[in-house]
Amino acid sequence: MKLNIAVLPGDGIGPEIVEQALNVTKAVCNKFRHELRYEHALVGACAIDATGNPYPDATHELCMRSDAVLFGAIGSPKYDNNPASTVRPEQGLLAMRKKLGLYANIRPVTTFPSLLHKSPLRADLVQGADFMCIRELTGGLYFGRPQGRSEDGNTAYDTCVYTREEIERIVRLAYTYAQKRRKKVSVVDKANILATSRLWRQVAQEIAREFPDVETEYMFVDNAAMRLIQWPTSFDVLVTENMFGDILTDEASVITGSLGMLPSASVGIHTSVFEPIHGSYPQAAGKNIANPLATILSAALMFEYAFNLTAEGKLIRDAVAASMDAGVVTEDIAQGGKAYSTSEVGEWVTRYVSEAN
Ligand code: IPM
Ligand code: MG
Repeated sequence: MKLNIAVLPGDGIGPEIVEQALNVTKAVCNKFRHELRYEHALVGACAIDATGNPYPDATHELCMRSDAVLFGAIGSPKYDNNPASTVRPEQGLLAMRKKLGLYANIRPVTTFPSLLHKSPLRADLVQGADFMCIRELTGGLYFGRPQGRSEDGNTAYDTCVYTREEIERIVRLAYTYAQKRRKKVSVVDKANILATSRLWRQVAQEIAREFPDVETEYMFVDNAAMRLIQWPTSFDVLVTENMFGDILTDEASVITGSLGMLPSASVGIHTSVFEPIHGSYPQAAGKNIANPLATILSAALMFEYAFNLTAEGKLIRDAVAASMDAGVVTEDIAQGGKAYSTSEVGEWVTRYVSEAN
């Protein structure tokens, strides 16, 4: 098969971790005799520095003509600490999501037995947790207009907007995933307060009727935040709007023991994007210490979701599990023993893939 990939490393640790994921991708393609073509492009703070635009047209055009996008991370303290800056790296990410029509962000949360002791939760609570957060990604507060400040600068406003169509497509997607899993959907909203949430709930109730084999529960977001730490194993597929999903997925990610382990897939109308859920971790940039496994696991999702190549995805997952079993891991998850560098972990996983039978 021919695989055409856009590689967008972004900022901070992005280039280091993407390099490792790309090496693993090359090894998988060699092994399974796929023809891999890839091209790099700029996004985020590095794109602002080079072109003034955090998502340059050339990057968008490359994404549009590729079959999948492998993405690192964006963000820079230079902009975080300057609220007055009118152009920000995050705008690049939002522009990419909007222009590629990536309305669904899929974040699988699974636990790794060797990481249970790292979880802030008791091992008996988190053991066996295995769920999928599906976050709406191109609507809600992130994109609603008007947004801004009053003339005197002392009042600010954001607008939360959702249409029936936007809700239908994401909720339906959640049900189709649930059908392939344990057949349970948790619809998370704030319908006791927000008009948009009441529309979510109404539309979700209608769609639930199309999937009688799937159990549905409706939950307010504050309650969901609590349930995620009290009883994480009770979730199978959780679907929610953009901002709630942003917050809940950060919460969900740490219960597994490390933010550095969770991949994501953003899918929708045009090319899908695969990226780790952690950020650009600027403090570690260039130090060769960041955990590359979430990005490597994102490459596994890329094989599965973008190309329907499940054996390839599974091999990557097996290689990651083996590196953890062998203790070849970065400092964030090392258990007392030696901590390996980003490139050592990446090289180990790449070698495992190349040498697998
Ligand atoms: C995420 C991130 C982004 C978001 C930021 C970097 C704009 O937190 O992908 O979850 O808020 O969506
Ligand atoms: Mg986030």
